[in-house]
Amino acid sequence: MSQPDDSGAIATATGPTPYQRLGGDGAVRALIDCFYDLIDRDPAYIDVRRLHVDLNRSRDKLYWFLSGWLGGPKLYVERFGQPRLRARHLPFAIGVTERDQWLARMTRAMSERQIEPELARELLQALALTADWMRNRFG
Ligand code: HEM
Repeated sequence: MSQPDDSGAIATATGPTPYQRLGGDGAVRALIDCFYDLIDRDPAYIDVRRLHVDLNRSRDKLYWFLSGWLGGPKLYVERFGQPRLRARHLPFAIGVTERDQWLARMTRAMSERQIEPELARELLQALALTADWMRNRFG
């Protein structure tokens, strides 16, 4: 399983990748669209929403990143090089509240997209480490 960084995929050496288990490109895009629709709709995610200026750009970037992270085409790396996600998040104040809102809406997006529960559990466990690694302020 993963370490709390962003360098590679969470795919294992054998068997289908998480990208394949999820259903490939269309399913990844649908998950990200659902994830970002939630921030727009739901006031519970206001702290995360206010940090994002251009949600359409953010949608694309998270989709490109997750495609590679899940073991599919490395769309983000092709465009921007190494993700260096922690460094790229430093301009945004991310504490426990923002981390938990991010994870809550990803959990809900997976549920709305009816991702198979065992796969959702594995992905959320790995994403929780990455989201926690992104924290750059107390509280
Ligand atoms: C597993 C956790 C996370 C992943 C995989 C992730 C992924 C990404 C990626 C790929 C980008 C685009 C970076 C770039 O090229 O500029 C990004 C931007 C961003 N992320 Fe995250 N992120 C995570 C957690 C968080 C958390 C906890 C917050 C807190 C609110 C957050 C807020 C933002 C913001 C504000 C941007 C800038 C968006 C923009 O440019 O409009 N992220 N994130």
